[in-house]
Amino acid sequence: MDIRPTMIHETADVHPNARIGEGTQVWNNVQIREGAVIGKNCNIGSGAYIGKDVVVGDRCKIENYACLFRGVRVGNEAFVGPHVCFTNDRIPHADGSEWDLAVTLVEDGASIGANATILPGVRIGMNAMVGAGAVVTRDVLSNTTVVGNPAREVAK
Ligand SMILES: CC(C)(COP(=O)(O)OP(=O)(O)OC[C@H]1O[C@@H](n2cnc3c(N)ncnc32)[C@H](O)[C@@H]1OP(=O)(O)O)[C@@H](O)C(=O)NCCC(=O)NCCS
Repeated sequence: MDIRPTMIHETADVHPNARIGEGTQVWNNVQIREGAVIGKNCNIGSGAYIGKDVVVGDRCKIENYACLFRGVRVGNEAFVGPHVCFTNDRIPHADGSEWDLAVTLVEDGASIGANATILPGVRIGMNAMVGAGAVVTRDVLSNTTVVGNPAREVAK
């Protein structure tokens, strides 16, 4: 595959400690926090938020205004749709007390539809598909499709 030049839009706020892989495109008004690692040839759409220490693999597409908070780890060739919201604290408090950081995994080739909400600590399996608007409360098995709130597997 040809490697295109890395592009970081002038309005993007990328922490100096964050690592951005070769060929990745970081569009306008993206914020990428300290310790985040983004792989090669990704596309990070406008307004996306990539939290502290978040890991995104190679050839991923993170769409506009998706929020990947601390604790999210994304494999290779995954798709995160516009306005997808990951969460990392099951019982949140404004003062941050009793914060129990959860790790949420998105495995290789998984796709998450627009506006889905992903509860803390779940694993979205390889090549799984999460429908638009779903609320994912439990692990999603590889190669399955889930929709709805709470997200449930669609009959094959
Ligand atoms: C989940 C999805 C992949 C299913 O697509 P599909 O296999 O073609 O499914 P169909 O459209 O045939 O729908 C099958 C059933 O699931 C329902 N359904 C489909 N998507 C749904 C969703 N996101 N939430 C709830 N129900 C959904 C349909 O209403 C239909 O129900 P019915 O049989 O009672 O009529 C697709 O609907 C989806 O949500 N894609 C994500 C799109 C997106 O966000 N893209 C981001 C880039 S813009």
